[in-house]
Amino acid sequence: MNIGVLGAGQLGRMLALAGYPLGNRFTFLDTTGHPSAGIGEVMVDTDQQHLEDFLEKVDLVTYEFEHLPVSLVRAIEERKPVYPGSEAIRVCQHRAEEKALFDRLTIPTPAYRLVDSAESLAVAVRELGVPVVAKSVTEGYDGKGQAVIKDPAEAADAWRSIGHPRLIVEAFVDFVREVSIIAVRGRDGEVVFYPMAENVHVDGILRYSVAPMPDLDAAVQQTADGYIRALLDELDYVGVLTLELFQTRDGGLLANEMAPRVHNSGHWTQDGALTSQFENHLRAIQGLPLGSTAARAPTCMVNVIGREGEAAKLLAIDDAHLHRYDKGERPGRKLAHVNLMAPTHEALLEKVRACAALLPDAPAPRFSFE
Ligand SMILES: Nc1ncnc2c1ncn2[C@@H]1O[C@H](COP(=O)(O)OP(=O)(O)O)[C@@H](O)[C@H]1O
Ligand SMILES: [Mg+2]
Repeated sequence: MNIGVLGAGQLGRMLALAGYPLGNRFTFLDTTGHPSAGIGEVMVDTDQQHLEDFLEKVDLVTYEFEHLPVSLVRAIEERKPVYPGSEAIRVCQHRAEEKALFDRLTIPTPAYRLVDSAESLAVAVRELGVPVVAKSVTEGYDGKGQAVIKDPAEAADAWRSIGHPRLIVEAFVDFVREVSIIAVRGRDGEVVFYPMAENVHVDGILRYSVAPMPDLDAAVQQTADGYIRALLDELDYVGVLTLELFQTRDGGLLANEMAPRVHNSGHWTQDGALTSQFENHLRAIQGLPLGSTAARAPTCMVNVIGREGEAAKLLAIDDAHLHRYDKGERPGRKLAHVNLMAPTHEALLEKVRACAALLPDAPAPRFSFE
């Protein structure tokens, strides 16, 4: 089975690494001109001239990047099976569509408004009350295209700094922690759920994910499972879906955003779960049975961003697993991650601190359960 992947970054690279043992081959279609997958066949297609070639080579198509023209994905769907389908891309690439779907399925979210001018932004800030987060409705990632507004007088500056014609403005959630739920739906509608992860973001970018969480109420996991199952079924989804949530003081969950693909907060599954998110995505899209999502041990994923640490030192930590992306160093760029495992969360935190101390740009690790 030759699997076509739209996008050619580290997520595609790790999909391929999980797919070779299954006998898969990979052809990537990169529309950015900056592929980094470094594996399989990479077709750079910045001028939309190579789609025919790509389609001739592949048996089915998936993607590792959702900011793609929906028309392109629909055109591909006419020719080859695409999993997850174009409807998932259409919804997940647009924050307003995403929120509308959450509302329709009665999945709670932070209060929000849609605005299309500096004036309507100022009105929304007054209605919601400060602080708020304003976000471009499309193209945002890793906290880009966002501004926190702490005073209605800052609205005009925020509007200019984001520079996008449509924004979503959200009440700023005073969360206890950020969490994510990853689930996989097979072609036959079977769904499996990974244990939720606690995610630590600094400046909008993910730095640490811990799963399973030491203090997670089973009822909270069930609530999250219910939310993501509703999304999967509504979209008739096939593959891995990720839902990011805020957990509030009363234990409740508010949906932040979702991603129709394997996700950075699921990288812990490569070493910490019986079946990784990458393998399960490939199983799902090929109509194969899904693998167990059970965790092997308390696991922490540490992102390596901007500058790399010394591999020999990182790997000297017991049960540490380094996953490098073969990318050049640049401030803010995701270059690698380290998965750490330990028998207890206490021992895990020791390792996380030791690992962070070896990474030049790592912020101090802090978790809600410490
Ligand atoms: N409404 C909000 N309240 C509090 N923090 C928020 C809110 N929205 C976003 N954030 C913070 O910004 C981060 C990035 O925002 P997110 O909407 O997930 O966009 P991205 O697509 O860049 O990941 C979140 O993980 C969270 O830390
Ligand atoms: Mg996010």
